[in-house]
Amino acid sequence: RRPVSLPRLQQMREAGEKITMLTAYDATFAAVADAAGVECLLVGDSLGMVCQGLPSTVGVTLETMAYHTESVARGLHRVQGTAWLIADLPFGSYAESREQALHSACALMRAGAHMVKLEGGGWTAPTVQFLVERGVPVCAHLGLTPQTVHALGGYRVQGKTDQAAQALRRHARELQDAGAAMLVLEMVPAQLSAELTSELTQCATIGIGAGKGTAGQVLVLHDMLGMNLGKMARFVHNFMQDAGSVRGAMEAYVAAVKAQTFPNDALHAW
Ligand code: KIV
Ligand code: NA
Repeated sequence: RRPVSLPRLQQMREAGEKITMLTAYDATFAAVADAAGVECLLVGDSLGMVCQGLPSTVGVTLETMAYHTESVARGLHRVQGTAWLIADLPFGSYAESREQALHSACALMRAGAHMVKLEGGGWTAPTVQFLVERGVPVCAHLGLTPQTVHALGGYRVQGKTDQAAQALRRHARELQDAGAAMLVLEMVPAQLSAELTSELTQCATIGIGAGKGTAGQVLVLHDMLGMNLGKMARFVHNFMQDAGSVRGAMEAYVAAVKAQTFPNDALHAW
């Protein structure tokens, strides 16, 4: 297998082949996910909850993100993995200035990331352009943006009113124009994310709780393995249940996303 690259991801988007993504926080899970055929691995700041036991992603630091990114990158390297490696810029590491964002992004790139992800629309577009122009591929993230959970008032569906949908659409276009090559849509109505997916011709949408109309899907690793400390989100499916092994569960996830049997309509009635 050849390493997954930006042109390859763009090709998949154009061909309508669904892109698969899972979070990974350590070397072993990263290697297994790669072997299972997962194309993109995200070192998500969800590691704050999953690995560190934090109440939200707000407390995750850049140093912690770099540490886990290094571990994942080493795991991939050891097995000559081909996955595209994305790392989250954590809360407070990119909002101060575009220079701060570049500085933080470089720390994650040095740790082995191929792309960084940042949350939010509007003010983020100039930051995305600044990074992309300097050789840092960027994945944007709209809809439910967990780093701003306290400002949003909880983990709930976004973009439900006409006004919110319009803002989301405007932000998505601006981020594409700024050069974002991927866009995570989290807890967004299925119809809105499907429309955005056909409107954005240069940017691959990756959904989580956003219906099946996106160019790809992402899930938190521990969620899809049925390991969860709190309440399981409604859009998650436990792929471990029928799989018998972690690798089997990941292969089932890849197969279900490719065949468009995951997600199904019952999993996201918004
Ligand atoms: O941190 C994370 O796991 C994420 C995904 C849920 C998209 O940002
Ligand atoms: Na995240």
